[in-house]
Amino acid sequence: KPKTFTFKVVLLGESAVGKSSLVTRFARNQFDQYKESTIGAAFVTKEVPLDSNAIANLHIWDTAGQERYKSLAPMYYRNAAAAIVVYDITQAESFGKAKSWVQELKRQAGSAIVIALAGNKTDLSNRRTVSREEGSSYAESLGLLFFETSAQSGENVEELFSELAKKIPRS
Ligand code: GTP
Ligand code: MG
Repeated sequence: KPKTFTFKVVLLGESAVGKSSLVTRFARNQFDQYKESTIGAAFVTKEVPLDSNAIANLHIWDTAGQERYKSLAPMYYRNAAAAIVVYDITQAESFGKAKSWVQELKRQAGSAIVIALAGNKTDLSNRRTVSREEGSSYAESLGLLFFETSAQSGENVEELFSELAKKIPRS
């Protein structure tokens, strides 16, 4: 029977980039156009297969992106096995914010943390202000996993969580 590995995963990024929407798409395959902004943080668990004899039980902390909650973030990324840093491809300034989260994780989180960068809202590509190349070359320069996603259409959402889980060392 498959072995289960429990991994703590944290989502970080500016308010309204779609962190909660990505989690809801992944965990419940739903999307809400009028999702309310997260207060503090939200916790969700979801299992994802790793291979034929291993399953990851992801303990997902979906943090609040509003500035007033910024000081809480270390409580959630400390001891996390992995982090997903999210930006909105239609909001260039959210990409800048994502870069600063990556820098903070590199400085303050454990050195073994696995980081994925997610450029969300690809369904709004007609309003894109961050190119795929900008995102992917930044991610590549720092050894981050990179996906462009849409919580609305579901594009790459399963892949994001699944590939991230596969990159976490199993102990
Ligand atoms: P905070 O909790 O404030 O940090 O925000 P958040 O990052 O959790 O964003 P949330 O998931 O609440 O989404 C913000 C808004 O963007 C909502 O209106 C969502 O419906 C919308 N949204 C999220 N993902 C997508 C997407 O992929 N495409 C489109 N078109 N809208 C999205
Ligand atoms: Mg949220």
